[in-house]
Amino acid sequence: MNLTEKEQRMLDGEEGYAVRKSMEILVALGDIYGAERLIKVGSVQVAGVSYHNLGDAGLEFLNELAKDGRVKVLTTLNPAGMDLENWRNLGISEEFAQKQNMVIEAFEKMGILVSCTCTPYLIGNLPRYGEHVAWSESSAVTFANSVIGARTNREGGPSALAAAFVGKTPCYGLHLDENRVPDIHVKVNADLTKFSDWGALGYAIGKKAENKIPYITGIDEAGLDELKSFCASVVTYGAKPLFYMKGITPGAETCQVPKDTVEVEQSDIREAYDNINDEVTDIDFVCVGCPHCSIKEIAEIAELLRGKRVAENTEFWVATSRSAKQLADKRGYTQVIERAGGKFACDTCMAVAPLKGRFKALATTSAKGCFYSRQNNMKTKMGSLEECIMAAVTGKWSS
Ligand code: F3S
Repeated sequence: MNLTEKEQRMLDGEEGYAVRKSMEILVALGDIYGAERLIKVGSVQVAGVSYHNLGDAGLEFLNELAKDGRVKVLTTLNPAGMDLENWRNLGISEEFAQKQNMVIEAFEKMGILVSCTCTPYLIGNLPRYGEHVAWSESSAVTFANSVIGARTNREGGPSALAAAFVGKTPCYGLHLDENRVPDIHVKVNADLTKFSDWGALGYAIGKKAENKIPYITGIDEAGLDELKSFCASVVTYGAKPLFYMKGITPGAETCQVPKDTVEVEQSDIREAYDNINDEVTDIDFVCVGCPHCSIKEIAEIAELLRGKRVAENTEFWVATSRSAKQLADKRGYTQVIERAGGKFACDTCMAVAPLKGRFKALATTSAKGCFYSRQNNMKTKMGSLEECIMAAVTGKWSS
């Protein structure tokens, strides 16, 4: 890879340990993927924040970097393993909280915004069309590339941190025009009638696209919440972190429609539900907010929960960013949800909190949430927000 004189000096250690290590990571990545140069990034989003995933080795790595590493661009964090304020209420142990707080302190020392959300674009880390960024969280990467039209590869935690310390990333993959061309036409012939259908559609397209870039036709309308749910699902179940949706996402009108074509029928949506949903009736955990709930979703939850009561043996979590929760506090949604027995899980989510063995069966609106909860040994049910609230109130899945 060709380095500028300044970049070479960074690699030689002129700016200290963290920058030198970062340059080593970026140069190695660039060499592996055939990048010719580094390009400036407008922002970074770092995953690998939960102590549950990092362990002591990860914490040690972060502490080393935090000694002299300071970020050069706006850098935000993915969810941590717990609500940083309300962790006791979510049943997190003292020991885990101590370690998680040490992780957060290391990130803070680096100058990173402790935002702890997978929806950075809702809290102020919003790139412009065409801007190069280095983001890690797969749903956010897909949203940035597809819905916003920014450019990012799916970074690992260390490569994102390296980009933050250098302010640059190697120019390869989805940063380049030639790698952003759709290569499979997906014709959707199915009606999407409820919110979770977007997760089911992501499942169906992810499976059919098989690591290709889908060009999707047949969708008339899609709101922000539907798109963020679809982004999480389509990349979890198989496609690249970029898609085009005709009439909805930027760039779709000027793309050449790929010849290779697959169709998504109503039966594919039904099949997605069949594969995501397990045989289970008793629900002891309901979690909505994968990706993190927007303020609009929180308002809908409050409306559906108003005057109801979460079942005694069921835990109900609303996973969201702290910023969205602060808005919910002001609007009175928090009070309604908590009065009904629901809990806010800010800064964290069902996939990165230490939940293994704690719950038997999850109900959620999210296809991605089901994928990761199965890895935590839970049975899963995906359905509409109404169905999830019903499960929270009765402790049963009823459809
Ligand atoms: Fe976000 Fe966690 Fe889902 S990071 S996309 S809420 S698995």
